Amino acid sequence: MPLLPDRRFWTALAYQMGPGRYYQPAYRFIANDIAVERGALLDVGTGPGWVAIHAASGRADVDAVGIDTCPHMLEFAEQNRQGRLNVTFRKMDATRIVYPERTFDAAVSVQSAHHWSDPAAIFAEVYRVLAEGGVFYVYEADPDAEVPPDWIARIGAFPPDAFIKRQWERFGMDAARWGALRAVAEASPFGPDIGDERHGFYRRLVCTR
Ligand SMILES: C[S@@+](CC[C@H](N)C(=O)[O-])C[C@H]1O[C@@H](n2cnc3c(N)ncnc32)[C@H](O)[C@@H]1O
Repeated sequence: MPLLPDRRFWTALAYQMGPGRYYQPAYRFIANDIAVERGALLDVGTGPGWVAIHAASGRADVDAVGIDTCPHMLEFAEQNRQGRLNVTFRKMDATRIVYPERTFDAAVSVQSAHHWSDPAAIFAEVYRVLAEGGVFYVYEADPDAEVPPDWIARIGAFPPDAFIKRQWERFGMDAARWGALRAVAEASPFGPDIGDERHGFYRRLVCTR
């Protein structure tokens, strides 16, 4: 057992206390918009788990499963779950999802795609585990978007717009990267009819099986 936690712990802690707090309205808007009222939802790269948690909260007929490769993120997700029985978190690489074909009715991924080293494998795996007609929503922040006041929870003036925009420049996707991700989705089993929309300050791909 190491004396000090590894670097990934500090990254996960910073995410839990930063974005995991001030993006709460965004997580709620996304969870409500993807509109799963019944069935199973997969959250790919769930991090501290908030989209899965909000998607399952108050929806007794929904089972939300969040997967992530980072054990520290999953520990925070487990804390944030607060005992809700219809949310589960699993350590799993989205390039090798353990669930059988057609397990999920919908899937979502928020601010994770910019980390994916093999997006083609992830689109193929999510396609495999989605039921016929199921939709995979892939969200990434657009660095050129305005900061909508109601999508960010602020304490006093923090975080200011300039801080938020810097985060999107570092951790979102500009038009070129977004176009490249979309091309991968179009070449995947979902393609070629991939929806490309805006939702709040995000772009999202809408990939229907
Ligand atoms: C910036 S965090 C976003 C977390 C959460 N979706 C949110 O919006 O708060 C991105 C997460 O994607 C996870 N991730 C990256 N590649 C992954 C993969 N191949 N399979 C599963 N999770 C992955 C990372 O470990 C990280 O926790």
